[in-house]
Amino acid sequence: MDLKTAIRAIPDHPKPGIVYRDITPLMADGEAFRRTVEGLASAFKAHRIDKVAGIEARGFVFGAALATALGAGFVPVRKRGKLPHDTISRSYSLEYGEDVLELHRDAVAPGERVLLIDDLIATGGTAVAAAELLAELGARPVACAFVIELEGLGGREALAGLTDEVFSLMQFG
Ligand code: PRP
Ligand code: HPA
Repeated sequence: MDLKTAIRAIPDHPKPGIVYRDITPLMADGEAFRRTVEGLASAFKAHRIDKVAGIEARGFVFGAALATALGAGFVPVRKRGKLPHDTISRSYSLEYGEDVLELHRDAVAPGERVLLIDDLIATGGTAVAAAELLAELGARPVACAFVIELEGLGGREALAGLTDEVFSLMQFG
């Protein structure tokens, strides 16, 4: 089974002209979900990852499973106002306006080998903000991983300089 067939295309969502790539069928299919996590884990098993940092919300789903598979810890990069302890924050651009990502100041230690993960990269604005938060704590991500890469939107290019490697399991043009 080609894992791409487990991604549902939703035309004109959330607005006309956008084809939204819906990952929920892949997560709901036990074999597809397992193979996705195994695919990510095999790409990074030699990287000696200390911590997987997952971006809210769907990055938590894949990040937690991947951390377990790699024997690494998991740290959440959350939307504004959710983390209870001392945080650092970074704003980033969305299609309409801005949002803020936050990270606990003690989530990673300087020099730790961190893998940043999200379900999808489009423009890269979200992942860039998360990578900058990690860098601010002295833990520049050794790699950034995504289940889906939407090509042609500049996401991969936006991350260049913030990490050594950008990895995606599947690509849509
Ligand atoms: C989606 C996706 C990524 C981001 C990618 O999240 O899960 O985090 O958009 O877009 P970008 O590369 O252009 O920044 P969304 O903002 O919809 O939030 P959610 O996961 O909480 O639904
Ligand atoms: N699917 C899910 N999340 C997204 C998408 C998409 O096509 N584009 C930007 N964020």
